[in-house]
Amino acid sequence: MSYHRLTLSHTLLQEQRRLGRSGTFTSLMNDIITACKMVSNEVSRGALAGNLGVAGSENVQGEEQKKLDVLANDIFLHMNALGGKYAAMASEELEDVHTVHGSADGRYLLLFDPLDGSSNIDVNVSVGSIFSILRLPEGAKPGSAETFLQSGVQQVAAGYALYGPSTMMVLTTGSGVNGYTLDRSVGMFFLTHPNMQVPADTQEFSINASRQRFWEPPIKRYIDECLSGKEGPRGKNFNMRWIASMVAEVHRILVRGGVFLYPMDTENAKTGGKLRLMYEANPMSFIIEQAGGLATTGRQRIMEIAPSGLHQRVPVILGSKNEVERLIAYHQE
Ligand code: AHG
Ligand code: MN
Ligand code: MN
Repeated sequence: MSYHRLTLSHTLLQEQRRLGRSGTFTSLMNDIITACKMVSNEVSRGALAGNLGVAGSENVQGEEQKKLDVLANDIFLHMNALGGKYAAMASEELEDVHTVHGSADGRYLLLFDPLDGSSNIDVNVSVGSIFSILRLPEGAKPGSAETFLQSGVQQVAAGYALYGPSTMMVLTTGSGVNGYTLDRSVGMFFLTHPNMQVPADTQEFSINASRQRFWEPPIKRYIDECLSGKEGPRGKNFNMRWIASMVAEVHRILVRGGVFLYPMDTENAKTGGKLRLMYEANPMSFIIEQAGGLATTGRQRIMEIAPSGLHQRVPVILGSKNEVERLIAYHQE
């Protein structure tokens, strides 16, 4: 029975009252929740709604857009402009900042990856949406990309929606991480995973092993040691998972631990890595750290990177604390 549980909207209201806030943040979160419910609906209707396949266009990063990438982006832009709480938004699917015209009290900035893991859409594997909320700096001009270039530690909130066997929303506002499950019969998210914690130890890793020949020595060493199992230096066997949807990967790590790696390698070094700092790496790092895990490039805490561009890419290593610490140590040697 969902009905004895707290809803996501009510936990936001409680938090608002506890902190004596005006309600602006609660209101903008409700717009994100609505957007995610709409995207969830489109994802689940799949081929029935003609939603699969490519859109016939490319985004700013030169990636082929799927129909659902475009649709999810439109839903996010529309729903989050309605409340007028954002000064501007930035998206994986848009080259430039999207200014919200007529937003009278737009004090926040929204960054999002409207659909993460789009290679999984056509094969009916979990995908998600990722978002990060920043404050509009005092006196800043809302339309400029520079206002978005704040490091991850400045995030006010971050979260993701996971469109899997059930749709979930996982959220942090800087005091822990809570997970909510969508009850489709009433169209509401209910608190099902309070205070999520990443176990400090794990025997599971996630990496796209097809890139092995490009890896740098610390990554090669770490994976070799995991693969050598009980007989190797780690003295235990490891399991491997690669879903190719970061949202699903991070969610698994929040639930049962693990380490996720999309490192910089000799092939992607020219772009700095694969995943985007502002709407993939930073929000996921905030969530993982708030759940007791760690997130690093191997050489630097991700949330302390001073951003240089909206679509900047970075190496990402995140998850169970003791494994990430080991990876940091290997990078220092
Ligand atoms: P997006 O679909 O938003 O472009 O992101 C895909 C990302 C991430 O979700 C996933 O972990 C990774 O790219 C998959 O990379 P590979 O194609 O190398 O497996
Ligand atoms: Mn993505
Ligand atoms: Mn995407």
